Amino acid sequence: MCGIVGILGNKPVAQRLIDGLKRLEYRGYDSAGIATLESGLLHVCRAQGKLVALQSAFDSSPIIGNLGIGHTRWATHGVPSEVNAHPHVSSKVAVVHNGIIENYAHLKEALIKKGHAFVSQTDTEVVTHTITDYLNQGLSPFDAFKASLKDFHGAYALAILIKDTPDTLFVARRGSPLVVGFGDGETYIGSDALVLAPWTKQLCYLEEGDYAILTPEKAMFYNEYGQSVDRPIKTISINADAVTKGGYDHFMLKEIFEQPTAVKETVESLIDPVSERLKLPVDVDWNAITKITMVACGTSYFSTAVAKYWFEMIAKLPVEVDIASEFRYRESPLPKGGAALFISQSGETIDTLEAMKQAKEMDQTTIVVVNVPESSMDRLADYSFHTKAGPEIGVASTKAFTCQLAVLATLCLDAAIKRGVLSDVEAKEYAQQLLNLPNEIYGILQKESDYQQVAETLKPARDALYLGRGTSFPIAMEGALKLKEISYIHAEGYAAGEMKHGPIALIDQLMPVIVLAPFDKWMVKTLSNLQEVIARGGIAICFTDRIGREHIQKDQIPTQIVEMPMTHLMTAPILYAVPMQLLSYYTALLRGTDVDQPRNLAKSVTVE
Ligand code: G6P
Repeated sequence: MCGIVGILGNKPVAQRLIDGLKRLEYRGYDSAGIATLESGLLHVCRAQGKLVALQSAFDSSPIIGNLGIGHTRWATHGVPSEVNAHPHVSSKVAVVHNGIIENYAHLKEALIKKGHAFVSQTDTEVVTHTITDYLNQGLSPFDAFKASLKDFHGAYALAILIKDTPDTLFVARRGSPLVVGFGDGETYIGSDALVLAPWTKQLCYLEEGDYAILTPEKAMFYNEYGQSVDRPIKTISINADAVTKGGYDHFMLKEIFEQPTAVKETVESLIDPVSERLKLPVDVDWNAITKITMVACGTSYFSTAVAKYWFEMIAKLPVEVDIASEFRYRESPLPKGGAALFISQSGETIDTLEAMKQAKEMDQTTIVVVNVPESSMDRLADYSFHTKAGPEIGVASTKAFTCQLAVLATLCLDAAIKRGVLSDVEAKEYAQQLLNLPNEIYGILQKESDYQQVAETLKPARDALYLGRGTSFPIAMEGALKLKEISYIHAEGYAAGEMKHGPIALIDQLMPVIVLAPFDKWMVKTLSNLQEVIARGGIAICFTDRIGREHIQKDQIPTQIVEMPMTHLMTAPILYAVPMQLLSYYTALLRGTDVDQPRNLAKSVTVE
């Protein structure tokens, strides 16, 4: 949420800052801005709305300078507008900020009494005035910056230009991510490694509470106690091409179609395709674990909900799943010897990260399944497993989700084998099914016209209901979330058996019902629920397989069918997730909504 970038360059930076913001736009697109410091003057260019607006403001009124900062905003305090856009500037200071200064109202009141005039409704503007105030008191720029950090409560990644310090950038991190990159006579900062990818691979992550002073040649780091510290420089290679649409109309479509490759790379990083045996990078002692608590947000939460079925049914390990923002304040007593497993695409979602810290304090073994190496969660967890989805830019998560499920399925097999509840033969069968997933996904992707047809049914709807049982229930919820996110149709995912306790009252010709019914131990019961929909005059579309089709035809259920391949307990939720993605994509296209940047959303949620 909000992205920041900075360049201490040996050539003009303004256009490069805007280019960098393009790679960060997935973090927010309510407004954007840049500021430069040149010959003792601060120059600012800001615009409300997406980056194209900033680009045209810059084109008509360019700013110059070899030192600058940039920001793309997801609004928290104050409406999306130019005046609330970062950088926030005084006569002496320019600030970009990701996070929330929670005590801003109190600080603002005190600063106003001292004569500071505020122009925006943001929390961030207090940072600008606090530093300016310390400078006015005669503190040196570095001391003013340091002193101000003690005043701020909440979360921040900050990058600050101070008028009297040419060639210097002040940065700080608490709660929100910040990375420093080193190039040839240039230094960079950014919210993630992706923004720096075309400029450098030499990266250094600020630790929690760190602050730093940067020049084009070097960086000096300090920990939260003000001690000078060394932070290791790591070589991180990210393909900057991931931030192009590669011939597709949208990032989301590109990422949906990348799934055969992404899932293949993920599965084959954990299962040897020749021996069909597991080869996990770290050895978790599942026998020492009595219960797993799985915690995540958004789409990642639905992968925990699928994994609960797998771990309980196959590995015989009890699992509790929770939404991170609820888990954090529920004061759940976690068992001795428990493990807490966190799932996150970004590795930065603040609620999940804070939940992980809490679990650590409660002596849980912490495990993370994460897509961004070196992200905060990756570095904090006891055990880390990587999805190999590559950068995901579309706000609606697609390939990261199926890769998360592939990792969780493999971890479940590892647990089941080590706990002695799965024979070698059974383990091999499951491994083969996972290794075959990329082919199956590829086949599903070829049936675009089927999903386009169902999208025509969804297009005029105001509401939609998604039903499933067992591992299809979380996929029903994920399907509903996808539809809500990008087409703005209200949708609910429900346990099919629970429909009769409420949603059945809503059934009519205006609310399409999507039924997920792979052949499994729940299928016959799900098809009975489908009958209940039809009996009440509802419109239903059933995603099922050959056996499901035969049942539907035998029972003469008048429903539209989308035929899927035959699946298994571990592959069904992964494969059925794919048509749900395409269904929402084509529905959004028909409704003309912004697929990659849906209103009000952001991809990386670093505020609570
Ligand atoms: C946001 C994104 C979702 C994502 C969720 C959790 O809501 O739009 O796509 O599932 O955050 O993010 P994480 O990075 O922790 O998986």
